[in-house]
Amino acid sequence: MADVASAIWCLPSLPESLPWPKSYAVLGSPIAHSLSPAIHQAAFAAIGWPGGYGRIEVDAAGLGAVVDRLKTTGFSGWNCTAPLKQEMFRLCDRRAVTAVQLGSVNTVRHEKGTLEGHNTDGKGWVLAVEEAFSVSLRELRILFLGLGGAGAALARQASWEGCPLLHLANRTSSKALALAAELEPRCRSQAVPWEEAPLCEAASSADLLVSSLTDDPPLLRNPGLLDRLFRPGLFVFDLRYWPADLPLLEAARARGALTANGLGMLLHQAALAFELWTGASAPLSIMREALAASLSPGPAEKVSG
Ligand SMILES: NC(=O)c1ccc[n+]([C@@H]2O[C@H](COP(=O)([O-])OP(=O)(O)OC[C@H]3O[C@@H](n4cnc5c(N)ncnc54)[C@H](OP(=O)(O)O)[C@@H]3O)[C@@H](O)[C@H]2O)c1
Repeated sequence: MADVASAIWCLPSLPESLPWPKSYAVLGSPIAHSLSPAIHQAAFAAIGWPGGYGRIEVDAAGLGAVVDRLKTTGFSGWNCTAPLKQEMFRLCDRRAVTAVQLGSVNTVRHEKGTLEGHNTDGKGWVLAVEEAFSVSLRELRILFLGLGGAGAALARQASWEGCPLLHLANRTSSKALALAAELEPRCRSQAVPWEEAPLCEAASSADLLVSSLTDDPPLLRNPGLLDRLFRPGLFVFDLRYWPADLPLLEAARARGALTANGLGMLLHQAALAFELWTGASAPLSIMREALAASLSPGPAEKVSG
């Protein structure tokens, strides 16, 4: 069983029969460094759920064929990570409000050929922010740096939470402009040019800065800009959780800001998925311990949800 759990499947190597009585997996590309199997395996064991959780390497073009196989084999559910969340949304037969609100699916429940799509990233992020900073997210003015798949989904979540003001900044400005126009009817939302002065001005009227950048761009390595971007008491949340000493968070802390990385979001989105699949309360402390153990010693390269 341990061999199956540590395997990385792709379409040709997917098992023809169920590896566990209740079988789950995380799908994405790249998927080798995903921490989700460790978290879910520990949670299943803790409540005596007859489940197992594997990893499947697949890109968006191959997702349909893999999903067909998971359906015929009888997998009970799965998670999707980058770059599959929009395509998985399209492939579902039914979509929960959480998926419709964010336009993407990270958690699927499968029953008798019917796929029900959910998105636990949004609420998982809200819980992580509130836990890290002891605040109510809906009261925060937020500056988003990065509006790729994850950043745009979280900005949508913030708009549904009723946050008073969203600043939306992205290197490719068309994404910020389009998202601001989409969110504005239900939430005050402003596109911010990807330039020093407008970014610093937006930060000065924000309570929380959320970075979903996959890179630390030269603009954000300029000490003068960092001095004006960060201030004591500002909350700064970086969705990444590796390496442990993320440069943006180090720079923010050095200037008195309060920081959190993406581990809390990874934990809470997994806990919500677990509850959707099992109907049981998630054993949060055990899942948190499993996450910490799987990071120590840390993975040599990037890890993903
Ligand atoms: N903690 C969790 O549970 C969790 C969940 C989901 C994602 N994540 C993490 O969040 C991060 C983002 O994921 P994603 O799916 O949103 O990725 P993505 O869709 O590829 O988006 C990447 C973002 O980074 C920006 N970017 C990349 N290089 C840049 C550069 N040199 N200068 C300026 N901007 C740059 C992109 O801007 P452009 O649009 O201009 O290209 C885009 O906004 C990843 O590290 C992922 O692992 C964590």
